[in-house]
Amino acid sequence: MKSIRRIIVERVSEALVAVLGAEGAEADPLVAPSQDSKRGDYQSNCAMGLAKKLGRKPRELAEQIVAGLKIDDLCEPPTIAGPGFINFRLKNEFLAAALGEIPPTQQEEDRLGIPRVSNPQVVVVDMSSPNLAKEMHVGHLRPTIIGDAVACILEFQGHDVHRINHIGDWGTQFGMLIEFLRETEPRVLDDPDNLQLGDLEEFYVKAKARFDSDEAFASQARQAVVDLQSGDEKTRTIWRAFCDESLRHCHAIYDALGIEKLEDRGESFYNDTLAGVVQELLDSGVAVESDGAICVFPKGFTRRDDEPLPLIIRKSDGGFGYATTDLAALKYRIEQMRARRIIYVVGNQQKQHFAMLFTALAMTGWADENVETVHLPTGMLLNKAGSPFKTREGGTVKLKTLLDEAVERSRAFLQAGEDDPEKRRGYTAEQIDKMAGVIGIASVKYFELSHNLATDYKFSWDHMLALDGNTAPYMLYAYARIQSIGRKADVQSSLDGSPVIIEHPSEAGLARQLLKFPEVIEQLGRDLKPNVLTEYLYDLSKSFSTFYDRKAGVRVIGAESEELRRSRLRLCELTGRTLKVGLSLLGIQTLERM
Ligand code: ARG
Repeated sequence: MKSIRRIIVERVSEALVAVLGAEGAEADPLVAPSQDSKRGDYQSNCAMGLAKKLGRKPRELAEQIVAGLKIDDLCEPPTIAGPGFINFRLKNEFLAAALGEIPPTQQEEDRLGIPRVSNPQVVVVDMSSPNLAKEMHVGHLRPTIIGDAVACILEFQGHDVHRINHIGDWGTQFGMLIEFLRETEPRVLDDPDNLQLGDLEEFYVKAKARFDSDEAFASQARQAVVDLQSGDEKTRTIWRAFCDESLRHCHAIYDALGIEKLEDRGESFYNDTLAGVVQELLDSGVAVESDGAICVFPKGFTRRDDEPLPLIIRKSDGGFGYATTDLAALKYRIEQMRARRIIYVVGNQQKQHFAMLFTALAMTGWADENVETVHLPTGMLLNKAGSPFKTREGGTVKLKTLLDEAVERSRAFLQAGEDDPEKRRGYTAEQIDKMAGVIGIASVKYFELSHNLATDYKFSWDHMLALDGNTAPYMLYAYARIQSIGRKADVQSSLDGSPVIIEHPSEAGLARQLLKFPEVIEQLGRDLKPNVLTEYLYDLSKSFSTFYDRKAGVRVIGAESEELRRSRLRLCELTGRTLKVGLSLLGIQTLERM
């Protein structure tokens, strides 16, 4: 299934060449979906700009382009509106033929016949990236869930995607943790692989209290930082043990969220390259000394007093920081991994950091014009009152607590109104467990993904778990309902060969929506906004509801003829497949029954 917009672009391009020759070959056909469906499905806005350039009347030029168009296999005769907009309305026969061409489900991966990109790139998605000193909290939801969705979408397009977990496993706070571990878990040196810390948050708080109240401890902690940096073996062993244990906590959460293929490559990975990077930047004049520190001054960034704002890459005490590591990581990703697109899914508090980093990168010459760096700034999670989402005591809400509650609430939701809460319409306790797990996680993910990623958003269980509206339970239910239609219809032979017939307006509406999917994927790959996909899927399920509605739509199982019945069942099947593929690109599993 090819993007219809693309087909129209090709046809308009051909017409432009036919009408204007070389001048037309260079022009952009400017084809976009119509804003107003009454006008048509797509429009081309190229006539106005071209007419201006050529000193001609836009409407006249539009008429000439229309006359040169060969498009009657796709569309009704194009119409011209206003100053020279060319409107296209797809024919029902074309909708039917295009859907008919979608190949049957493949075993491994259903692509709905959408081709892979012809120019696959290596893409790095820098996502999740918690600091290991502490437990993961709700602030990590978006960088994790949105990062994974973006990665899934680009992977589906055929790119070679690396989900890089740039974990914070380095820095001065580790001195304190190492020292506290040495004190409280003396066995860690003999048996570093079996360290178990029930609650990292508690451990951090205790270590911090010790650090703040005991000068001797604090000075040992500072020494531990020096030892760690100089590679002292025992100190490294304790540090590694702590990081491994903290990572195990993280991966319990990734497992619960169904996040696979995450490559843990923490800040410490770049340690050995930092000195070299700083030297290189000094040698090339990109970095300069300033008050004893080594700094890069990216153009256009100033402090309040208009003094240039530095990216400090070596502190005056000789230490390297966050920015140094990020520059080293960029160099590694570009030169070693050959990444052509590097996407950071990180909170919008770090907007300036990334803006400065990317400007600094442009000064280094590491990247040619084929390398694109993007910061996808994620908004903050707020409570109902609009303040940061915290526990009742004012602490950060652990991710584990939140996910457990989501699953528990989904279970309650599934069992609501049942006399025997252990049973639900004949499901075993095990099945209910599985369903609650899928719905709970899906709800959290879908809620995150359906909001504009950059804006702050309010947390609400009621909204998240509502069965109507643009929510996971609604989408999962829509999918399961379609699957049940298929079961009820009890089709004996494969529907794949039977022709699609588009006659009724609700059939045409559903067909249009289904055929938009390749375009949505294209747009997602470009703009990286998962909420465009949730909106599309929601619109698709609404078109389906209209189609399946007794009054507004058609009869499916009891259709007027066997031919229509098979065609409509095929529309059901295609809707189910599109929902399933779309949800899978958001990292969301579906249920066959619900
Ligand atoms: N660990 C950082 C934090 O928790 C996020 C890292 C984001 N990635 C990066 N390459 N800087 O704030």
